[in-house]
Amino acid sequence: MEDLQKLETTIIGVITASDDLSQLEDIRISEVGKKGRVSLLMRELGKMSPEEKKIFGPKLNGLKNKINDTIAGHKATLETQELNLRLQSERLDITLPCPLENQGSIHPISQVMDEVAEIFTEIGFSIAEGPEIEEDFYNFTALNIPEEHPARQMHDTFYLPEDANGKRKVLRTHTSPVQIRTMMSGPPPYRIIAPGRTYRCDSDATHTPMFHQVEALVIDKDIHMGHLKWCIEEFCRKFFELDNVKIRFRPSYFPFTEPSAEVDIGCAFKDGEILIGEGDDWLEIMGCGMVNPRVLENVNLDPDEYQGFAFGMGLDRIAMLKWGIPDLRDFFAADLRWLKHYGFAALDIPSLSTQNHKAGGK
Ligand code: PHE
Repeated sequence: MEDLQKLETTIIGVITASDDLSQLEDIRISEVGKKGRVSLLMRELGKMSPEEKKIFGPKLNGLKNKINDTIAGHKATLETQELNLRLQSERLDITLPCPLENQGSIHPISQVMDEVAEIFTEIGFSIAEGPEIEEDFYNFTALNIPEEHPARQMHDTFYLPEDANGKRKVLRTHTSPVQIRTMMSGPPPYRIIAPGRTYRCDSDATHTPMFHQVEALVIDKDIHMGHLKWCIEEFCRKFFELDNVKIRFRPSYFPFTEPSAEVDIGCAFKDGEILIGEGDDWLEIMGCGMVNPRVLENVNLDPDEYQGFAFGMGLDRIAMLKWGIPDLRDFFAADLRWLKHYGFAALDIPSLSTQNHKAGGK
């Protein structure tokens, strides 16, 4: 049998001299692979006498282990080197100004959120928030949607895996849980809007699994449907920048409002474009109603003393309407060309501020 010590020195030398991962793999195969040099030597053990085996067996095993360890160590070194090289070559200086062709702009959804916030804060609302990963209680139960209620199926809910207590959280299916969180956070009156992301397992040209809503909640001692109607009309006038907006309230059903309605906005389809506020067609933009006394009871408010209204509006929907954007899915395709067409300049201010600004300047 060859001088194993010499063999070891040679092989280790070859391994550590290699500077390329595929070359290293070739070395591994030719030395300790199935038909490799060391493996063949090990096969010879079979022909040896028991005494010889006792000496060469451990030696050969030791050699094999040493080679494998050296290869693994060297492989890690080469991989780190390769990664560092890549990091170097792909280095980006994020403090440099963006190349013009890659410059982004304000997404229409962000612009809508700004405009909605602007309109409602001006008439006395404040902004509330809630988590997107929500407890079943806030998303359903407290809103008068008990388990087994058919409305739960209608929501196409994304459920998270069970937690330690066997409870499953959900990705909120609407912004209405923020109503509950608001009412549980302190005493009335409440006058809030809650814009944010919502999720339902649904996808086509008018539905995406993630979409945006804005919730509104007003609770006080003398609130009636007239207030609700005025708020919505006022919002539509300002948002769509029209003095006369045709809207209609269509009776509907939500477990958390009573009575409930859906609001449609008048529109016309002309040459593939949507005209808002006129014409004989209708587009649904929100659900609304007077907060169900049961919901008030769920948050320990006395329905004989307090009442109010709530609505939930699709932000993506009103953005599509306002700027004539035909396909909802494009909102989330991260296509710079689309953003260039529909986006807003960073310093664009909400349209309402522009109006105020002009009025103030006169
Ligand atoms: N949460 C309802 C939805 O997502 C909308 C809604 C909100 C209806 C508030 C009534 C009151 O469809």
